[in-house]
Amino acid sequence: MHGPAYSTPLGASWCGDSLEWLPTLADGSVALAITSPPFALLRPKAYGNQVEDDYLEWLLSFARALQPKLTETGSFVIDIGGAYQRGAPSRTLVQWKFLIKVVEEVGYTLAQECYWNNPSKLPSPFEWVNKRKLRLKDPVNTVWWFGKTPWPKADITRVLVPYSGRMRKLLANPQGYYTAAERPSQHFVSWNFRDRGGALPSHLLTIPNSESNGSYLRGCKLAGVAAHPARFPEGLPEFFIKLLTDPGDLVIDFFAGSNTTGSVAERLGRRWASCELDRVYIAASAFRFLSDPAQAPDVYRQIMAGAPMTLGVPATLPLAIGS
Ligand SMILES: C[S@@+](CC[C@H](N)C(=O)[O-])C[C@H]1O[C@@H](n2cnc3c(N)ncnc32)[C@H](O)[C@@H]1O
Repeated sequence: MHGPAYSTPLGASWCGDSLEWLPTLADGSVALAITSPPFALLRPKAYGNQVEDDYLEWLLSFARALQPKLTETGSFVIDIGGAYQRGAPSRTLVQWKFLIKVVEEVGYTLAQECYWNNPSKLPSPFEWVNKRKLRLKDPVNTVWWFGKTPWPKADITRVLVPYSGRMRKLLANPQGYYTAAERPSQHFVSWNFRDRGGALPSHLLTIPNSESNGSYLRGCKLAGVAAHPARFPEGLPEFFIKLLTDPGDLVIDFFAGSNTTGSVAERLGRRWASCELDRVYIAASAFRFLSDPAQAPDVYRQIMAGAPMTLGVPATLPLAIGS
């Protein structure tokens, strides 16, 4: 594999097949891999069980290639949307089969199954939901969080969520809103509420996918390229990067698309590396790192022509990347 298509102060993005790229990473270097694969049924000629099984095996090969690259406390987080079989209102089992095989065959541990609720997701498929009214809307994607060991590094105090209105009132005036009393369990519960900066987060993450993606979309418009159709909202990688890594740790995404992961990692002071098969997506993803979107057409042309680009200040932290 050649050098990166572009690099930034904290990371770099490669163009190619991640099954060839993952082996070039240093063993034990990756604190977090967070990604979302191409959709099972969107792959060419993808229909029928045989193809579903092939897809599963293909996806599992990435999990296998990643395993030695993770640190002992590293995590692998993968967002897999649900899908329907072709031509019938019945669901595939791909994401559930993947979960079981990653644990039972590849040897990861399931740290937690999470769910991404995207309230802005449009109802689909049109035939079953909008037209024939046979199936419910499904705004929730499964997001599997695997550990290389049973003890992936994590700190939920970094991703506390805002208190509810009721809790805020209680914190402001505990005596006014709570009466210390003996519970039926005979435990005496006294008031000792203090502001801990937010409430404990749950595994149901509500993150709308309606953000404007500022410099990325502006760059796409100026360069005349279509935006990636299946982008993460920044809040999704942000949640897991904060939860599972420290500043300076290496975060990777091996189905990078528009490189949302890399740009969020950069903003949060994590080193990052990503790989994407389609050079058009890679070239446009560089727009995320431009302070001046007017540079987009030029940057796009250069990356498409294969000229390696350095965006921003040259890297100061060494990347834990092999050749
Ligand atoms: C669902 S998209 C990821 C979108 C990304 N999360 C974002 O925020 O833009 C999946 C991406 O995987 C890429 N892809 C598919 N096969 C690949 C491979 N073997 N190696 C690298 N990338 C691949 C596709 O081109 C597609 O852009």
